[in-house]
Amino acid sequence: MLDMTLEPVSSLLRARRPGHTLPAGLYTRQDVHEADVEVIFHRHWIAAGVDADVPEPGDVYALDIGRSSIVILRDDDGVLRAFHNVCSHRGARLVDAGRGTVGRLVCPYHQWVYELNGELLDAPHMGATFDKALGHLRPVHLRSIGGLLYVCLGETPPDDIDDLARVMEPRLAPYDIRNARVAFETDIVERGNWKLTMENNRECYHCTSNHPELCVSFVHYDFGFDPDALSPEEAAEARAHAIRYERQAAAWEADGLPSSAVDHGPGHATNFRTQRLIIAGPGESQTPNGRAASRRLLGTMTRKDTGDVHLWGINSWNHVMADHAVVFAAYPLSADRTLVRTKWLVHKDAVEGVDYDLATLTTVWKTTNEQDAALVARAHAGVETAGYRPGPYSPFTEATLDDFATWYVERMRAHGF
Ligand code: FES
Ligand SMILES: [Fe+2]
Repeated sequence: MLDMTLEPVSSLLRARRPGHTLPAGLYTRQDVHEADVEVIFHRHWIAAGVDADVPEPGDVYALDIGRSSIVILRDDDGVLRAFHNVCSHRGARLVDAGRGTVGRLVCPYHQWVYELNGELLDAPHMGATFDKALGHLRPVHLRSIGGLLYVCLGETPPDDIDDLARVMEPRLAPYDIRNARVAFETDIVERGNWKLTMENNRECYHCTSNHPELCVSFVHYDFGFDPDALSPEEAAEARAHAIRYERQAAAWEADGLPSSAVDHGPGHATNFRTQRLIIAGPGESQTPNGRAASRRLLGTMTRKDTGDVHLWGINSWNHVMADHAVVFAAYPLSADRTLVRTKWLVHKDAVEGVDYDLATLTTVWKTTNEQDAALVARAHAGVETAGYRPGPYSPFTEATLDDFATWYVERMRAHGF
């Protein structure tokens, strides 16, 4: 008789070889999915949206994360808050997923009424002695960092979120993402594990052969290469780009635009990496021709040659350019399905059809997302088969993936797996 007992998650984690992709079960197993949700998505700082999801008092935005649901809102005083999207009476979901505007939160089940600060205001037929203070909504830890929202569902959130704030607040300040507007949003369900979505996002090894539209604005030398694999012409091009980058980054820094790479990899709870990168061609924006899509620039930006502030997080990636920003977040739905939500942000006063054309603004990343979804599905399909063995990451183009896998294993083990 075959022994079909599953190896414990802890052995899979211990079996991970440095420099290699994860053992199959860490991408494919339902119990690992549940462990990921518990550890990564419920106890770390997870990208949840943007301030601009709830621009006005009374705006609410409900989002499912793992087996939780939260509601982010702006209260009557303009304060951003997040709560578990669960009624204090018998636990019904208060608000349906998506955006809305309310005066108060009213549970559809028995009409308990909550103020936007979470206080229970009315609980009909509960009797005069009922203590409403016990029924306030349970808050969720929430941080807005330069207009990007992060939540932690755990009781004791990692305090190194302060490092992310310290690094990113000054980098994002001139773009005033807090007061931007969501011009467009898409949801894609990728047919793969969330870690394959994140791995795919963190390398550009696949870009030249898969993303012709994105490559108009990306300089592939920025994403690593084996110097011995280059032709003499390519090597000269790479050297010229390195010199140009050094000069450009120094000029940006001198203009008060922080640009250097900051890497918060293994050894930290809150994983992130940022760097300001040169945009190829005309150097303005990730559009079909590399020029700005919106003539109304973000925040206080006055020039378009400020590159791409690139920020990766645990479940997110972002590109912030002078004229617009693209904000992505991934949420695991099951071991083999991942929701990727993408938002395109413009200046709040930028008018569609006047200041920007929506198709020009969105086409590169809409197309790139579809290409990436196909690659993630392809990766997952192979990992699921009996022939899969963990494979080697390129030390030149995939070192960041090795770091991500190392970080993941560390975090899971730090939480008892
Ligand atoms: S469950 Fe919400 S009012 Fe009863
Ligand atoms: Fe890609």
